[in-house]
Amino acid sequence: MGGRGIEPYRKPVPDAKLVELEPLGYPIREPGMSNSLIVDSIEAFNEYARDQWLGEVVKEGKILFDTGVLHSFAFKVVRVVPAGVGRITSKTKFVIRDRSTGPEPEVPDVTFDDVVGQEKAKEACRVIVEYLKEPERFGEWAPRTVLFYGPTGTGKTLTASAVAGEAGVPLFRFSAAHSLGKYVGEASERIDDMFRKAESHAPCVLFIDEVDALALDRRYQELRGDVVESVNALLTRIDELKDKAEGVVLIAATNYPDVLDPAVRDRFEYEVEFSMPDRKEREELVRYYADKMPLPLKVDPAYIAARTGGMTHRDIKERVLKRALMEALKEGADAVERKHVDKVLKDAAGGDRRQVYHG
Ligand SMILES: Nc1ncnc2c1ncn2[C@@H]1O[C@H](COP(=O)(O)OP(=O)(O)OP(=O)(O)O)[C@@H](O)[C@H]1O
Ligand SMILES: [Mg+2]
Repeated sequence: MGGRGIEPYRKPVPDAKLVELEPLGYPIREPGMSNSLIVDSIEAFNEYARDQWLGEVVKEGKILFDTGVLHSFAFKVVRVVPAGVGRITSKTKFVIRDRSTGPEPEVPDVTFDDVVGQEKAKEACRVIVEYLKEPERFGEWAPRTVLFYGPTGTGKTLTASAVAGEAGVPLFRFSAAHSLGKYVGEASERIDDMFRKAESHAPCVLFIDEVDALALDRRYQELRGDVVESVNALLTRIDELKDKAEGVVLIAATNYPDVLDPAVRDRFEYEVEFSMPDRKEREELVRYYADKMPLPLKVDPAYIAARTGGMTHRDIKERVLKRALMEALKEGADAVERKHVDKVLKDAAGGDRRQVYHG
């Protein structure tokens, strides 16, 4: 009578203030379905996550399945603040641990032959390739850290990929600005994570793009609250890399070497400057891409080289060759001719300076 039976004693579950999720992907998927996740707005993701998981009790290690847009996509709960377990409420904040480099790293399919010019850079990188092929041979003579600097669009990212491609090892690409922009306050955790992942895949190349976002000179720290934290984490990790991690080469790239924290900059064993292409290099670049274009290029590469002074490698490819190709295709022409090139060069010179920013 009146007995409610014996209910097992349950500790009250606290509200989860913060839940960190690691995207795992689909338990099963069809070929072609991507396992990576792109979240452009973490605020919107928060709404979405609370909507579908409101009231659920989550514990570190638990797997949550998406019931919405990404039906059955799995997330692992990697952190629940404050207690390791908690109930999702309308105030729970979600963060996503991006797997620094996205999906599993791959061996890039580019080699030094795909990098036109930049001979000094390639020269400096050859020894790194040798090392990555046979890490055990080098011992304490191993080249571990290189800094690439120079203007945007001159082949820094491409060359980093080519180093890994030449050596046949995977490339971990980490964009500092992109990742940290969203996760102020978690910088050092993210840095640790990225080095750990690279170490577990050695031999490999760890490529940190826009390293200035991570290792800004401490003098500029009012710009970002967590600069000291990220600089320190980076210093520690680079030192460890040199002491123990065999087979991991760190390549960092920046357009602004002068704003780097001096202690970080000092840690790099080499600095490699990427320069704007001179006339000869521009000509070589045009020849290289002409072979790859879907229509033949019936214009002397020297003609284009002479008219593209001040342009970067990327500009010549994207703003000249690609646009000229589009012109030709629009017309239904069966080759890219002088008039198509002249048109885009004229546009480029005459006010169509819509700058394209490449993040
Ligand atoms: N030296 C080069 N040889 C051949 N193609 C190049 C070269 N440099 C740049 N490109 C072309 O331009 C694209 C952009 O180059 P890349 O991303 O390597 O420039 P970046 O120096 O890393 O620029 P950013 O500083 O903006 O990151 C490449 O994917 C490639 O198509
Ligand atoms: Mg780049």
